[in-house]
Amino acid sequence: MTHPTDLISVSYDELTANLSKGKIVERRLSEIRDSFLNPDLIDKMPTDEDPIVYRVTAVEPSNGTGDLHYGLGIIYPGKVGPEYFLTKGHLHQARETAEVYIGLSGEGYMLLENEKTLETRMEPLGKGQIVYVPGHTAHRTVNTGDKPLTYFGVYPANAGHDYGAIGKRNFLKVIVEENGKPTLKDR
Ligand SMILES: [Fe+2]
Repeated sequence: MTHPTDLISVSYDELTANLSKGKIVERRLSEIRDSFLNPDLIDKMPTDEDPIVYRVTAVEPSNGTGDLHYGLGIIYPGKVGPEYFLTKGHLHQARETAEVYIGLSGEGYMLLENEKTLETRMEPLGKGQIVYVPGHTAHRTVNTGDKPLTYFGVYPANAGHDYGAIGKRNFLKVIVEENGKPTLKDR
């Protein structure tokens, strides 16, 4: 298969997660309110602003068998009550497909939930950290620091994103601040 030459080489900035090319998706707090443990707290926040919580830029050079897609994400620092700003999270449509995340800057974690065993893990994802997300695993990224968290993720081109399955019931556990530390708790 011929690859479009314009996506063979892309430049990026590790602090802003800006890419020279790619498809941008941005999520404001109002759009992901149901991802949080206590969406009602959003209504009580002392501002009329609707901040951008995260942005992902995806690069999809080609869609053939064996091809890869990748993206850069940035989650801004913030909290809703004790719960840190996070991504909506997803399973892959092709459930068996895995993904590798590499932390580029900032501090945070990935929340991993196996859809078969429901086993949940909280794995560090900051600068210098790599997380392997196995197949059949819902994954969400959480910024637990006071600066933006940026990361790179690469996945098979046929993976696809399924936000519905995990969106309906949400993750079983949450990462919240407790005694000043990121802590994994039951929802
Ligand atoms: Fe993914």
